[in-house]
Amino acid sequence: MAFPLVLSLSIFIIFLCYKLHNRLTAKLPPGPWPWPIIGNLFSIAPMRFRCFAEWAQIYGPIFSFYLGSQLNVVVNNAELAKEVLKENDQNLANRFRTKPLDSVSKNGMDLIWADYGPHYVKVRKLCNLELFTQKRLEALRPIREVEVTAMIENIFKDTTKPGDDSKTMTLRGYLGLVSFNNITRLTFGKRFINSKGEVDEQGEELKSIVTDGIRISGKPNLGEFVPWLRWVFKDDNEALESQDRRLNKFTRLIMEEHTIAREKSGETKHHFVDALLTLQKEYDLSDDSIISLFWDMVQAGTDTIAITVEWAMAELVRNPRVQQKVQEELDRVIGSDRIIDETDISNLSYLQHVVKESLRLHPPTPLMLPHMASNNVKVGGYNIPKGSIVHVNVWALGRDPNIWREPLQFRPERFVEEDVDMKGHDYKLLPFGAGRRICPGMNLAINLVTSMLAHLLHHFVWSLPNGVKVEDIDMMESPGTVTYMQTPLHVVPTPRLPRNLYTHVE
Ligand code: HEM
Repeated sequence: MAFPLVLSLSIFIIFLCYKLHNRLTAKLPPGPWPWPIIGNLFSIAPMRFRCFAEWAQIYGPIFSFYLGSQLNVVVNNAELAKEVLKENDQNLANRFRTKPLDSVSKNGMDLIWADYGPHYVKVRKLCNLELFTQKRLEALRPIREVEVTAMIENIFKDTTKPGDDSKTMTLRGYLGLVSFNNITRLTFGKRFINSKGEVDEQGEELKSIVTDGIRISGKPNLGEFVPWLRWVFKDDNEALESQDRRLNKFTRLIMEEHTIAREKSGETKHHFVDALLTLQKEYDLSDDSIISLFWDMVQAGTDTIAITVEWAMAELVRNPRVQQKVQEELDRVIGSDRIIDETDISNLSYLQHVVKESLRLHPPTPLMLPHMASNNVKVGGYNIPKGSIVHVNVWALGRDPNIWREPLQFRPERFVEEDVDMKGHDYKLLPFGAGRRICPGMNLAINLVTSMLAHLLHHFVWSLPNGVKVEDIDMMESPGTVTYMQTPLHVVPTPRLPRNLYTHVE
């Protein structure tokens, strides 16, 4: 009886000494004391970026913690973000992939989850030079305009429908439809939902693949972080394989449809299916790479857009002064006898500041995506060993009281007083990241988000339902890699333009 106890105690003491020795000699960033085996796994609150901002108050702007035996480092200010994303950019550009992410990315043969190396450089070049060029974005503009104006038409129909006196609506559903239709048309060249909002069979399968993917990859698994416990916490290989089969079947069918259509018409369309299939040989891309790239776009481009617009609308309803100021600008630049199009955006500077201010307070990916060290590096004077996962807390950067005056106030005017870039040059505002892994969909996202907001605010005044006060709006995020509002926004739209301007463009 006594022997096992002594043995366990000795192992525990040896472990503590080992960790203490590591901490003191390896000069790792400070951080909470890790438990044997699990590390700090159970000390992290579900809203990780908020928890990390609190830990930064205790341990300083750079700290470390363990998930199982996996070392993680978090940086929480602009100076350190620059060290990660500029000075050590190349050495911190790998990704950490869990088993489900390995499966969906076909072992990193995509872009999002690929390690930094020849494959990544090739696919990134393809994105920069072929997929996300200004020319292609411009060619895809009609898709965005149809989808955004269809949203306005639907909101108008629903709000003027006789019989519903409250006129309260949940905005998220309308925003989600625009993002989903935009991304599926851009990626697969197809709209899976008709004008009545009915989803076809292929669309149902697509939605189900996306939802199952989120469920499977979101399942926590201790075995990912404690390799020698993998035999206890087994992966659900069956679910992963079935998901992979469905994903391949779905994508290959669409690829075939497009190949046949291209051969028949001799015409290459602007969406990504045709682009990737015609460039496949030139860029030496495997079918696996093409399939996983499609799913990257769906993963990265759907929720982020809807989330950004929902947060911005919440701030505009909480701040009627700002909403009115945007509407005055829209009336001055566009007037009330036509609708806005994307070419108007460059003349809507106050609206652009609103988008920036909203992304400062509510970045949809508050911890960006995790980077991984491919070599030993130094950040903030501390050692970051090869294999560490590095997070940049962009949520905390945007609220840093040492950098931003009244950081919690929604005040777009701050960007009139000081010109701050949000495309990876100013390290205090990084909603899209910075450096070599910066979001390639950034310009597309900014166009679409700004256009959606411009239309929503030009066509309607937005207020709270009767009896609901500004303080009642729940401004908490939901946990996850991307952060929706925890409680969907409920609002009341009142039309403000002539009736004939509420039909979608063809
Ligand atoms: C408001 C909307 C968006 C935000 C805030 C956003 C933000 C981000 C962030 C923070 C990253 C990670 C950067 C890093 O790891 O350093 C990222 C990566 C990425 N985003 Fe976006 N994104 C948005 C929309 C989009 C859209 C619309 C697309 C494509 C259609 C897209 C495609 C990607 C891809 C492919 C990556 C991976 C890049 C890489 O690993 O090299 N994103 N995004």
